[in-house]
Amino acid sequence: MTVLIKPTGFALGAEVVGADLTKPLDDTTFAQIRAAFYKHEVLYFRGQALSDEDHIRFTARFGELRQLKLASQSHVQHAEIYVISNIMKDGKHIGSYDAGVLWHTDGAYLAKPHAISALRALEVPVQNGRTLGDTHFASTSAAYEALPPAMQKRIDGLQAVQSAAHHLAKTGGAGVKKDVYAAVKADPEAIHNLVRVHPVNGRKCLYVTEGYTSRIVGLPEDESRDLIRELANHCIQPEFTYRHNWQQHDLVMWDDCATQHKATFDYPPTSPRLMHRTTVVGGVPLH
Ligand code: SIN
Repeated sequence: MTVLIKPTGFALGAEVVGADLTKPLDDTTFAQIRAAFYKHEVLYFRGQALSDEDHIRFTARFGELRQLKLASQSHVQHAEIYVISNIMKDGKHIGSYDAGVLWHTDGAYLAKPHAISALRALEVPVQNGRTLGDTHFASTSAAYEALPPAMQKRIDGLQAVQSAAHHLAKTGGAGVKKDVYAAVKADPEAIHNLVRVHPVNGRKCLYVTEGYTSRIVGLPEDESRDLIRELANHCIQPEFTYRHNWQQHDLVMWDDCATQHKATFDYPPTSPRLMHRTTVVGGVPLH
């Protein structure tokens, strides 16, 4: 298989053209895609009418997939698949309907945060010929590298609390199911370096988001709050971001150390959006 990597022209992201993910990839093609992924931090593949099995097979080549134990959000047949959707069946949402309401990185509150997420569009809302529900991505490596040296020096070595409970409190937790509350109670937070060293390419990445970062260890409360806000806002400036406009059958994968992301809720509840996501388990962040 011959694939072409086309960078988006933004700080992150590239399209992979010519791959057919319904078939197992040969080692050379996979190595090319893997190298592009760690270079561009977000990759997207258009026109991939994948089965769930294809989605799982392709993403499992990057590492062990997380098995979700949330009855309200897991795929019925595949524990590896997290369902994101506004669709309701028998009066209940069939998956998570507010995932990505705040900027975040997936699984930041875990001792071993996710390494990679891969989201596939099964149904995308369309209005007047334009698809809605874009996802925004920010490069936390580009954001770190653009910081003034004095700020880099100030924050290198600091640690922050990444908290699922904080995220739930910020989003109001409206309509959150009992199993999600139980999961948050079981895995409420973790402490990670504010500057993470990427486990594959060694780049330094800012690990601070509006969604999950609740406190910087050892700083007074007001200083901690101000620094979190300053760094989180710094990351999401236009020069560090890429906005993905979905088409049905897109697969988009992102690096959960080198990026953060946010969904857009600009579509009416009557326009169905259905996405399936797998996540690759990460290691304990490097210090
Ligand atoms: C997510 O936060 O993983 C979901 C993003 C989206 O649905 O656009």
